[in-house]
Amino acid sequence: MSAVTAGATRARQAPVGGGGFPRLLPPAGQGADLRAHLGLHGPVPYRGDAGALIGEVRAAGLTGRGGAAFPVHRKLEAVAAARPGRAVVVGNAAEGEPASHKDEALLFLAPHLVLDGLQLAAEAVGASRAVLYVREDLGARTRLTDYLPERDAYGLDRLPVEIVWAPHRFLAGEESALASRVSGGPAVPQYTPPRVFERGVDGRPTLVQNVETLAHLALIGRYGPGWFRSLGTPDEPGTMLCTLRQASGSVDVAEAAIGTPLATLLDLSAVKGDGEVGGVLVGGYHGSWLPAAQAASLTLSNAQLRPAGAFAGAGVLAALPADRCGLRESARVARYLALESAGQCGPCRSGLPSIAAAMAELACPHPHQRVLDDLSRWAGLVEGRGACHHPDGTVRFLRSALGVFGPEIRLHQQGRCSAAAGRPFLPVPAGPATEADWS
Ligand SMILES: Cc1cc2nc3c(=O)[nH]c(=O)nc-3n(C[C@H](O)[C@H](O)[C@H](O)COP(=O)(O)O)c2cc1C
Ligand code: SF4
Repeated sequence: MSAVTAGATRARQAPVGGGGFPRLLPPAGQGADLRAHLGLHGPVPYRGDAGALIGEVRAAGLTGRGGAAFPVHRKLEAVAAARPGRAVVVGNAAEGEPASHKDEALLFLAPHLVLDGLQLAAEAVGASRAVLYVREDLGARTRLTDYLPERDAYGLDRLPVEIVWAPHRFLAGEESALASRVSGGPAVPQYTPPRVFERGVDGRPTLVQNVETLAHLALIGRYGPGWFRSLGTPDEPGTMLCTLRQASGSVDVAEAAIGTPLATLLDLSAVKGDGEVGGVLVGGYHGSWLPAAQAASLTLSNAQLRPAGAFAGAGVLAALPADRCGLRESARVARYLALESAGQCGPCRSGLPSIAAAMAELACPHPHQRVLDDLSRWAGLVEGRGACHHPDGTVRFLRSALGVFGPEIRLHQQGRCSAAAGRPFLPVPAGPATEADWS
């Protein structure tokens, strides 16, 4: 793992493996400025030929770090097939997930790796426009607007980079919402297909990559696929940034090799044990709760997490403290997710508010007997029916909560609760948000 201070977030240094680690986060004490970056990594390794870098990315096995772990070379190939000069490349730093701080930390500590990766991705697909889509409140903290003219002075960027500010909303980073916002519209998901790699920003083929993915790309361009594969697992190579919310309340951003045991990343000693009602949240608010004992036996890898019903997502891991109620936490998150829906489709308009209301009842003493049936009926009704994945992600989160916190549900049915402390644990922005916040 590795360390910093970015906003409220602290990242740690603790070696996990060899091969030059940490990779993305600079060595402790080194600044984020351009001279330090050039001293560490040298200039942008342009290829002069798109095919070369795409082949290297394919050999490296890089997957997206924005949540879906989609193979990067496949998107590069799809966008590179567009008519020359048509494509747009966008680095996604919307970081709408309230429990995630890894993109913020990366832009704070290693902005030039991201900007190098944006240029290399643009070259690889023959793009004529490069955009960085950044959550609006990260502007001042990351000094991105200072760095761009500095890079120009060094002649580093072949394409000028535009910054487009993203509203701080859960859905603003979804790629069709991003394409709408960068095209001058509201940051709400659009009905797909067409997918953005076919018709995205201003109707042009658009490559959207998370900013961490771009930073890995910049390193692969310099050090090659073999180096990239020297950490991680054969099927899931490399490292990823994780936001670690410990039961103690501390929040760190850490870089970890894929395949690192979750128990190395999170201190699980302050979480309730077997037979109790402890839980570890994996993959954020569209992710899943796992029983603490099961989490302790797993590693940070989708190959291990998927059979358990979870996935690494954008690397959010949270260990619920022993004195909090998992149902109350889940009800707060469900309410937040319901309020964050764009309200365009039936499942979000009526289904998510009903789910949130039923979860709120379950979080109270003596919930009505029919609440569990209602929840399972509503979940079945919204699943697979939205224009985007928001209803599905919300249902995944909800179902895992009902499973892991089953013992807590029984306590609530008896009018009891295991939680000694009422203080909220998982971060949920103040709301409700209004329609005016979409742009
Ligand atoms: C509801 C929702 C929210 C999303 N928010 C973000 C986000 O904030 N940042 C991000 O990089 N990707 C986000 N994504 C994923 C993007 O749609 C897209 O897949 C990603 O930016 C592609 O980059 P990657 O392949 O490098 O991960 C979100 C997806 C969904 C369904
Ligand atoms: S499913 Fe929900 S969040 Fe997604 S586009 Fe439809 S209304 Fe919006």
